[in-house]
Amino acid sequence: MKRMLQGRDLVSIHDLSKNEIELILTTARKMQTNPRPDLLKGCILASCFFEPSTRTRLSFEAAMHRLGGSVIGFAEGGITSAKKGEALFDAMKIVGSYVDIGVIRHPQEGSARLAADASATPIINAGDGANQHPTQTLLDLYTIQQHLGKIDDLHIALSGDLKHGRTVHSLCLALAHYDVRLYFVSPENLTIPEAITHELKKKGVKFSFHATIDEVIPKVDVLYMSRIQKERFSDSNTETPSGCLLKKKHLERAKKTLRILHALPRLDEIEKSIDTTPFASYFEQAANAVPVRMALLALILGKL
Ligand code: CP
Repeated sequence: MKRMLQGRDLVSIHDLSKNEIELILTTARKMQTNPRPDLLKGCILASCFFEPSTRTRLSFEAAMHRLGGSVIGFAEGGITSAKKGEALFDAMKIVGSYVDIGVIRHPQEGSARLAADASATPIINAGDGANQHPTQTLLDLYTIQQHLGKIDDLHIALSGDLKHGRTVHSLCLALAHYDVRLYFVSPENLTIPEAITHELKKKGVKFSFHATIDEVIPKVDVLYMSRIQKERFSDSNTETPSGCLLKKKHLERAKKTLRILHALPRLDEIEKSIDTTPFASYFEQAANAVPVRMALLALILGKL
């Protein structure tokens, strides 16, 4: 079990078995109670963000610093030699030779796999276009376990832009390892891709489609909200569909133990007055990014 992640890339949530996911979650819990300030002393992380980020970039960098490591990198591709036309493969081959581990966010689907192929050192996908965001999934699962004590036997609704939402895609694929019931809430034009539902069917996960949060709210233990991914749209209609707007009045019909998650940033899909209710777990979820990413970095770097 130990060192099973050493030297590995994390590009897709498929790269992790259920045992490996559980190892990361258990290690993150230990990190939260027993910080290890010198564990990654002497190690360098390359933080390569070709697309905007607040949480993912800063929590990866904070995680590395909290473990005594160092960080180099950039927060936008426009200040790198990509601007002069350098191929991503060449750039990541070089970056990989400077550091012990790299994190990449890029607007193109498949870019993280390309970077991992180019780099001799491990690469973690911090979001590749509308494809995947596997480390967000780890902190989503961590937060669900933290609040509900389990992942099995839960009814989980995912609402919003399920077509372009990479956090939704990775989370559904990870949930396929568990005994869960899923509810997809979106208009037809933003529905979950068939590649994901195909995988769920293969694993025997039950799911259904709904147009409004109202239809599912009394049944669910977790409501995973997502924003309209405006940056992935070619047309101009990027309003949140009315059925995917969560209002405080919805919560009158919710289980008392319901937890609302959101990878953030939030636009208008969660009414702000919900933030101070016991249902809102999204800010804690964002904070959990640091111990989860500490665990992941330490395990991939073979220090645990
Ligand atoms: N959750 C998430 O990916 O947020 P950022 O885009 O701010 O990194």
